[in-house]
Amino acid sequence: MTFGDNAIFDYFNRVEDFAKECRKGGVFNDLPVITGKSQGPEVMVKGCNAPVINCNSLDYLNLGNSVATTQSSGLVEKWGTGFGISRAVADHEIYIQFEKEMAEFKNSVYPRGMKLFNTGYLACYNAILLLAGRVSAAGFPMDKNPPASCFFMDVHAHASLQDAIRGNGFHCKTTSHLNYDELERKLSKAEPETLKFIVEDALFSMNGSFVDCKKLLELAKKYGAIVILDGAHSDGVYGRNGRGLLDHQGIVEQEDLEYFVEIGTLSKAFACIGGYAALPVGFCDLAKVGNFHYIFSVALPPDIVERALLTKRIIAGGIGDERRKILHKKTSEFRNEVRKLEFNAMNSESQIVPIVVGDDKKCQEARDYLLFECGILVGAIRKPAVSSKNALLRFSLTAGHEDYHYEKIIESLKKARDKFRF
Ligand SMILES: Cc1ncc(COP(=O)(O)O)c(C=O)c1O
Repeated sequence: MTFGDNAIFDYFNRVEDFAKECRKGGVFNDLPVITGKSQGPEVMVKGCNAPVINCNSLDYLNLGNSVATTQSSGLVEKWGTGFGISRAVADHEIYIQFEKEMAEFKNSVYPRGMKLFNTGYLACYNAILLLAGRVSAAGFPMDKNPPASCFFMDVHAHASLQDAIRGNGFHCKTTSHLNYDELERKLSKAEPETLKFIVEDALFSMNGSFVDCKKLLELAKKYGAIVILDGAHSDGVYGRNGRGLLDHQGIVEQEDLEYFVEIGTLSKAFACIGGYAALPVGFCDLAKVGNFHYIFSVALPPDIVERALLTKRIIAGGIGDERRKILHKKTSEFRNEVRKLEFNAMNSESQIVPIVVGDDKKCQEARDYLLFECGILVGAIRKPAVSSKNALLRFSLTAGHEDYHYEKIIESLKKARDKFRF
């Protein structure tokens, strides 16, 4: 059965044929199908007859199935299943409470504020739109001739930031990964009156390395720039009370924090869904009247936002401290062990530990072998997330992994290497 025979259906038919060819050529990764709970150190996967070790979850503090679940039962009864309207039309007390507590948590004090978005992707995307120098309110631009702006973006910055900047045609200078000299050279050539934004992930999701926030601060001060920092993988996991990488790297004074706009997600350490951006208050207010994704999209269900808030309180308290300690100790031992065994873990310094396999097909085969023969679920990361010569197995480790999980991972990795030679 194919589509009809006019020009548009002909196009659909060609897309079907192209997709079939891709399927045959192994372009589509046959994905493991999780049955039951998807977070936690062990999960069930279709085709496996026992639980497998889960190295795929970004619930770094292992809160998704435990404390947070108990505390959040009853929230659907309390709030219902959805909000049913955009926040441009009506607000909800739980969103306002969330933004207040998140602003305190992220040290985003007046004139800084906090805006909740439906996902981390949208938080990044909208923060770029808002900051790009084209502020408007209800269709009226603030400036008839908007100031020139330029984004100085790390080549490995998250897709949401790249999408917002490139997709909207904003002026952008890409710099090679964590190359501060190149960044400085590019900043120094920009006109003094150009609005300059340095765009970086705090913790890079593919290689597990950190950006140097002190270096970014130095450059931001020297060239009058603002740093847009995506803390998706580091918020909740690093810094005092899990405040994030700036705190972890000792940037705590307001006069320094002023140079950063922090963005984050609720889908990782917060084990939920949603995103936030610590924007100046004026931008937060203008989002409500000028930002299409905010105005023309229904807000998150209130029960989800309260769940994220409960998890935030756990992250910031004693349980969060304990879990961070366990996570950092065990992942540091794991990184040492894989390096001792001469696996290529790139420059990982965190709970994200890549093991480079080097070839797309081999990487997928190694992933399947680890899953079906060894009982380990790990992500095979290929193009477009990394270049094809850098296809990798991404171990995303959590505070729920015990010593026996790590031992089994190491043994299995050794077997996989013998079989697939990476
Ligand atoms: C660095 C980074 N930023 C942003 C996002 C988007 O977050 P979300 O999954 O909440 O849309 C991701 C997520 O996958 C990410 O890895």
